[in-house]
Amino acid sequence: MPNPDILIVGGGMITHDQLLPAVYHMQRQGRLGEISVCAQRPRTVHALAASATLAQAFPGQSFRAYPESGDEDAPQPELFREIIGRMKPGGIVVVAVPDQLHADVILTALRLGQHVCAVKPLVLTSADALDIEEEAYRRGLVVGVEYHKRFDDRNLLARRKYRAGQFGEFRLGSAWLLEKSYYRASNFQNWFTTENSDAFTYIGCHYVDLVHFITGLQPAAVSVYGIPDQFPNGKTGYLWTDARVVWSNGACLNVQNGLGFPDSAPGANAQGLTLYCQGARDGALLSHADQQRGLRYSYVEPQDSVSPAYVEPSPDYLQYVDMGGPGLTPVGYGFRSVEYILQCCIQVESEGGNLSARQRLLREFDSAGLMATPANSSHNERVIEAARESILAGGRTVEIPISPELQAATVASVGPRRRGCEGSYNSL
Ligand SMILES: NC(=O)c1ccc[n+]([C@@H]2O[C@H](COP(=O)([O-])OP(=O)(O)OC[C@H]3O[C@@H](n4cnc5c(N)ncnc54)[C@H](O)[C@@H]3O)[C@@H](O)[C@H]2O)c1
Repeated sequence: MPNPDILIVGGGMITHDQLLPAVYHMQRQGRLGEISVCAQRPRTVHALAASATLAQAFPGQSFRAYPESGDEDAPQPELFREIIGRMKPGGIVVVAVPDQLHADVILTALRLGQHVCAVKPLVLTSADALDIEEEAYRRGLVVGVEYHKRFDDRNLLARRKYRAGQFGEFRLGSAWLLEKSYYRASNFQNWFTTENSDAFTYIGCHYVDLVHFITGLQPAAVSVYGIPDQFPNGKTGYLWTDARVVWSNGACLNVQNGLGFPDSAPGANAQGLTLYCQGARDGALLSHADQQRGLRYSYVEPQDSVSPAYVEPSPDYLQYVDMGGPGLTPVGYGFRSVEYILQCCIQVESEGGNLSARQRLLREFDSAGLMATPANSSHNERVIEAARESILAGGRTVEIPISPELQAATVASVGPRRRGCEGSYNSL
């Protein structure tokens, strides 16, 4: 079976920092075919192709860039349809466009016979998630949602120990993720506006997903208070949010998010999770300071225009290391997460035209619960849909109905670990 070709739609920050490095590395390992990137403007893909970081890590590798021609700044928002249409069925489309465009790109890819790896959040409504789930299953195609914190070993450890009963039951907790202020000056200012997204929808979803991933609980109600603030281009976004998520067992999680962590602060961001839990005889505590990974570096001078000379980098998300051989090797859970999803696509594709075998694998991925899929991570869409309603209504509490089937499936899934995707992924 030839290696699948892969197209990344979107050429922004996440493509440069995580997706393209992971894809390049898998191509170098002989696991992927031709790589293409389709953004909205020629200038975006030209800047990506000129990246010094990528050139140093992946010498001799390149991607086909779309748009191929035209005015550098003229948008070509429909081009991705034509480029996906030119792919052989059974390839992989990585979706890395702004949140509100995910549904269109994902459904286009599925209808044209391509597997999908989508950055989080999958989509913004439950109805869109259901359409995607049905379309993918009917065609025997993978849709993996790239919630990379699931592949951080500290979260996999917490999940195993929580599900073994070592923490009792979650009662009260808090989570926070604040990105640096300089994010406001990026392309975010063009789409991260009050009508499209907010800090909770954008990054709070990581920790909501994690609480489900660790505990197996389902969200039952959400309220989000948002503070509108100005981007440099004058547009307005909910750049600070405070959310309360109530869970199916009555537990409560407070989630604070923002694009306002000081640029002069040492970590890449501020982030963490604390869960207070109840056991039969004592309370229990699960606490992760996720921006503190133990590294303290003070360089002779700042490494770029936005960072201080003293930094506390994370070795765990995605870093490049010299493992010998040409270029550099991307390591960390940012790589492992993309690799896992793409490996699942490759595994399903190896079943060829046997639809029932493909569908059996899809159901196994759903029930293993390691890779987020439309079927096993609908809690995210239900929270986001309710959160958008809440924030636009000034923070009103919005109930999230849980069907008896979902409640039963949730209880059933909090059991012994089930089988996940097979392949070269072996660090669990
Ligand atoms: N921690 C995470 O998991 C994480 C981090 C960053 C971003 N993301 C997600 O990734 C997505 C993109 O984020 P980003 O930071 O790269 O944003 P960005 O603004 O830097 O990039 C968005 C890209 O989408 C492209 N685009 C927009 N419309 C398009 C169209 N019609 N056709 C083709 N390309 C189009 C733009 O050209 C741009 O390259 C968002 O959904 C975001 O939530 C996830």
